Amino acid sequence: MNSPIIQSESEQAKAIQARLREANQTHLLAHWHQLDDQQRELLLEDINRINLAGLSGLIKSHVMADRPFTLPRDIRPVVCYPARPGIDQVGLYADAVKRGVSLIRRNKVAALTVAGGQGTRLGFDGPKGAFPISPVKSKPLFQLFAEFIRGTNRRYGADLHWYIMTSPQNHADTVAFFEANHFFGLRPQRVRFFRQGIMPAFSMDGKILLDQKHRIAFSPDGHGGSLLALRRSGMLAEMAEAGIEHLSYFQVDNPLVKAIDPLFIGLHDMTGSEMSSKTIPKVDDLERVGNFVIGDGKAMVIEYSDLPDELAHARDANGNRLFDAGSIAIHLLSRRFVERLTADEAHFGLPWHRAVKKVPYVDERGRRIEPEKPNAVKLESFIFDAIPLAGKPLILQTIREEEFSPVKNVTGVDSAESSRRDLNRRAARWLESAGHAVPWREGEPDGLFEISPLLALDADHLREQMSTPPRITPGGAHYWE
Ligand code: UTP
Repeated sequence: MNSPIIQSESEQAKAIQARLREANQTHLLAHWHQLDDQQRELLLEDINRINLAGLSGLIKSHVMADRPFTLPRDIRPVVCYPARPGIDQVGLYADAVKRGVSLIRRNKVAALTVAGGQGTRLGFDGPKGAFPISPVKSKPLFQLFAEFIRGTNRRYGADLHWYIMTSPQNHADTVAFFEANHFFGLRPQRVRFFRQGIMPAFSMDGKILLDQKHRIAFSPDGHGGSLLALRRSGMLAEMAEAGIEHLSYFQVDNPLVKAIDPLFIGLHDMTGSEMSSKTIPKVDDLERVGNFVIGDGKAMVIEYSDLPDELAHARDANGNRLFDAGSIAIHLLSRRFVERLTADEAHFGLPWHRAVKKVPYVDERGRRIEPEKPNAVKLESFIFDAIPLAGKPLILQTIREEEFSPVKNVTGVDSAESSRRDLNRRAARWLESAGHAVPWREGEPDGLFEISPLLALDADHLREQMSTPPRITPGGAHYWE
C-alpha cells in the first residue's frame, strides 16, 4: 500500500501523463518504474516547469522546421550617432554627458549583466564571470565590472544597483563567488541576483530530452529571457520602487565594456529612446556579429548568418561598406519599456531562435548517450529582438578597441587571449594619451599594463588622475589603482 504522499503524487503523475499524451511527450515517464520516490518528485517538478499547453505548436514551428528567418522586404543601413560628435553635435554630446551624469548621481541608472550562459566554448569550470582575465592581476570578469561600478560611484557620488542574471545551473556558484570575494567591495545590498528561465532541449523529431531518467535536459532560455526574468523575479517592481529609470545592459564576457556610460545614458534619455544600442564598424563584410539595419522601417539586428551575401558585400558611392554597423550586445533599456513588454506574459513578443547542438541524453533503454554530432534543438530568445518593439531606438557608434573584446573561446578570435591582449593595449594607449611614454615592441606594448577602473574609467579620466609620470620598465608588469 502506497503512503498518502506517494498516492497523491501518483495521482498527479496520472494527470501529468494525460497532459503529456496530448503533447506527445509520454516518453518522459518511460523510466518511471525504476525511479524512487524522490526521483519521481523531481521528474514531476521538471515536467511542471514546461508549458505543455503551447508545446505542440512550438515544436511544429520551431523544432521540427528550420524556419528560415523572414527577411524584411526593404533593408537599409541605419543612421547612427557617431562615436565622436560632428561640429554640429558638440553641444548635444556635452549636454548628453551632463544629463547622463545627473542620472547617475541620482541613482536613476542600474547596471544589468547577463551571466546565465553556459560558456561551452570557453569550457571554464565555474560561472564565466569568475574567469580570470586582467593582464597583471588576473582579476575575474565580475571584479572588473564591480570595480567599474565602484569607480563610477566614487567619481559621481552615486550608489548604483547592479542586477546580475544567472541561470538555475550557475546561480548558487555565482552567488557563492561574490560572497567569497566580499562582493568586490560593493555593498551586498546593491548587488541583486536573479535567475533566468529555462527551456527543454528537443530531439530532432520533437521529443523533449531527458538528461537523466528523472531529470529533463534544460538549458537557459537565452539572453532575451532577461526581460521576463526581471519581472518574474520581482526585480522590475524593486527597480520602480528604487526610482531606477534605465538599465545599462551588457554581457558577462566583455571586460572592456563601459558598464555605465554617461554619454550613452544621456543621449538615450534626452531622445526618449526606449532601447538604445552601441555599434562598431565591422572588421570585414562577413564578420560574425549581428548587423543593425532598418528593416521595413524599423531598427533591428539581422544575424550575420541571415544577412544575404549581396547586402554584406554592398558598397556605397564612396566605396564604403553599406551595412557596417555591427552589434556588440551593449544596450540601454528604459525600465518602463521592459514593464510594457512583459506586462502580459502570454503575449510576450520575443521570437525563439533555433540552434542545433550536442546534448547528452538518456535513450528509451535508459542508457546515457554522449552524442558525437549535434543531435538536439535548443530554443533561445535574444535581447536584440526587442529593438524593433522599442519607441525611438537609438544607435551610438563606439570604438572597438575601447569597448569590445569578448571572451568566447580559449584562443584565437574573441578569446581569453585576444581579450587580455586588448585590455593590455588599451591601458598602454590610455597612458600615452595621458602624456606618459610607453615602450612598444613589434606592435605590442612592451610589458603588461593594467589600470583599475577604481583609478580611471576612460582615457580622459586617467589624464585627470595621473598627472605625474608613472614608473614604467620595458618588459615589466605594471598596475595602478
Ligand atoms: P553567448 O551567446 O556567447 O553564450 O552569450 P555563452 O553561453 O556565454 O557561451 P557559449 O555559446 O555556450 O560558448 C552571450 C551572453 O549572454 C549571456 C551569456 O552569459 C553571455 O553574457 N546569456 C546567454 C545568458 O545570460 N543566458 C542565456 O541563456 C544565454
